[in-house]
Amino acid sequence: MTQNRTEKFFKVGVNVECPKVYGNTLSLSSCLKCDFFKTLEKGKVICNFFPEEENKIHPKNKLNELMGNEWLFFTKTVLRTSYPSEYGHTLRKKHYANKPPQLMKHIIEFFTKSEQTVLDPFAGVGGTLIGASLCNRNAVGIEINQEWVEIYSKVCETHGIKKQEMILGDCLEIMERFSDEAKEFDAIITDPPYSPALEKTLCDGKYGWARRHSNFENFSENPKDFRNTTSFDDYYKLMEKAGKLMFQILKPEKYLVIMIRDSYQAKQYIPASFHIATRLEKFFTFKGIKIWHQTGAPVRPYGYPFSFVPNIVHHNILIFKKEKF
Ligand SMILES: C[S@@+](CC[C@H](N)C(=O)[O-])C[C@H]1O[C@@H](n2cnc3c(N)ncnc32)[C@H](O)[C@@H]1O
Repeated sequence: MTQNRTEKFFKVGVNVECPKVYGNTLSLSSCLKCDFFKTLEKGKVICNFFPEEENKIHPKNKLNELMGNEWLFFTKTVLRTSYPSEYGHTLRKKHYANKPPQLMKHIIEFFTKSEQTVLDPFAGVGGTLIGASLCNRNAVGIEINQEWVEIYSKVCETHGIKKQEMILGDCLEIMERFSDEAKEFDAIITDPPYSPALEKTLCDGKYGWARRHSNFENFSENPKDFRNTTSFDDYYKLMEKAGKLMFQILKPEKYLVIMIRDSYQAKQYIPASFHIATRLEKFFTFKGIKIWHQTGAPVRPYGYPFSFVPNIVHHNILIFKKEKF
C-alpha cells in the first residue's frame, strides 16, 4: 500500500473491523495509529493483535477450522449483508425463499469441519447444499417439491458445483427412516417455511411484487408441505415434530441452526421464531440467535401515516445445541 493510497483511505473515512474490539468497526485512521497495526494488503488490515499462534486453529478446537478472530467475528449477534447474485441465482430465484449459498457457507463453516456432513431437511433449491460444496463439506438435502429438486440439479450441472445428495420427499418420513437406520449428522442447518400459507399477507398484494423476481404463489399442493397447514398452531406442532426427529439424528454436542422470518398478519406481529424456539427447547439447549439483516430489502409504507407496522428486513438464525448426556 503506497502512502498515496493510505492518504486516500484517510480522506474517505473508511471503517475497518478491529479484532481488539471483537470485530466492531472503527475508522481506518485510528487503526493506522494503533500499536498493533501491521500493514494493509489489498484493502484489508493485517493486525498483530492476535499473536501468531492465535492466528492458527486452536489445537483444542473440535468444532470448526476457524482462527480465533474468525470465531469471535461469527459470535456477533447481527450480520448485515446482501450477497451478490451468484451460483445459479438466475435459476434459483424461481424459489420464493432461496437463501444465498455464501451466507449458508458462513454458517456451515462455524458449525462443522471439512468433510463433515450437514443435513438440510427443507432444502429448497439448495442454498445450504451449495454452501456446503463451496467449503468442502458433505450435505444431504430433503425437499418435498420436485421442481426445486430439479432446479438444484440443473444449477450444479450448469455451474460445475459438486452435487450433494438431494432426496425428494417429506422430511418427517425421511428423518424417521434416518433415525431407524441410526444415521447421524454433524450439523443440521435449515430454513423451513416460515408460516402457514394464510391468505392475508403483510401487504395483501397491495404493493405488488414488482421488486421480487419470483412468483409468490409458487407453493406445492402437497398436504405434507408445512406451508399447507391451516393455522399457526398446526404449523408449530409440525415444527416440534421435526425438531424431535432432528434431535434424534444429530450427533451429541453438535448444533441445529434454523432460520425463521417472523411475520405480520391480520394487524399483528407473529413472533414465529419465539414460538418455535420455545418448542425446540424441549429437546435442545437454546444457545443464541444471530439476526441476518438483509440490506437492500425493499421498504414499504405499510402503516404510514397512522400506525406502527414493521418492515421486516431481518431473519432470525436460531442456534440450538444437543448436549452430551
Ligand atoms: C424457505 S424454503 C427453503 C429454501 C432453501 N433454503 C433454498 O435456499 O432454496 C422451505 C422449503 O421447505 C420445503 N418443504 C415444506 N414442507 C416440507 C416437508 N414436509 N418436507 C420437505 N420439504 C418441505 C418447501 O417446499 C420449501 O422449498
